[in-house]
Amino acid sequence: MAKGFSNPRQTWDSRFASADYIFGTAPNVWLAAHAELLQPGMRVLAVADGEGRNSVWMAQRGLQVDAFDISPVGVEKARRLAQETHVTVNFQVASVEEFAWKVGEYDAVVAIFIQFADPDTRATLLRQMKSALKPDGLILLQGYTPKQLDYKTGGPPNADHLYTEDLLRDAFGDMDIVELRSYDDVLTEGSQHCGQSALVGLVARKPFGCNFR
Ligand SMILES: C[S@@+](CC[C@H](N)C(=O)[O-])C[C@H]1O[C@@H](n2cnc3c(N)ncnc32)[C@H](O)[C@@H]1O
Repeated sequence: MAKGFSNPRQTWDSRFASADYIFGTAPNVWLAAHAELLQPGMRVLAVADGEGRNSVWMAQRGLQVDAFDISPVGVEKARRLAQETHVTVNFQVASVEEFAWKVGEYDAVVAIFIQFADPDTRATLLRQMKSALKPDGLILLQGYTPKQLDYKTGGPPNADHLYTEDLLRDAFGDMDIVELRSYDDVLTEGSQHCGQSALVGLVARKPFGCNFR
């Protein structure tokens, strides 16, 4: 299991135990702003999808969505959200270590606030995400930058879990970087991502001929 909490499944289960959706039910604003990249019929994987706000939104847009998260409580809420929204998402309870990663399967891999991953876990995870893409497939990733440690409006308190543009440029240097931008914005994503925030968004495309195994 990824480091950070001694028992991440239990920690996230208790965070998700409240009746409300702690990151809201609307999709992440940065992801929604990139809707034109996510076309109906695309096969997409939502990594660490939590309570399902992003996977359900993509399914509503006509994508074929696989989603997983370590927390059974979060996934149960995600299933409920999908049911209430009348869409189908293939949800699984799995940690990033447990998930049965496929190779060359997806048109897009979406990773929104997956900063539970320490540097070692992150290196493996990003490699698996890239490998899971078909050629020409897209990574869409949103996270916090180290400046977020001053704002304290969401995200982990561990500097080495946060992303700089250099870190992402390096990690995705074997892909075509379509967009990489750090910026400040005010988030209103449920009770947990709330207020002035230091963000970074990355869109990267897998070149033809690469398998990143
Ligand atoms: C900040 S939340 C983001 C959830 C979702 N992506 C969203 O934007 O609403 C981080 C998520 O990572 C999940 N998580 C934590 N450790 C994990 C692990 N080792 N493997 C898979 N998921 C994990 C948590 O259960 C939680 O849902």
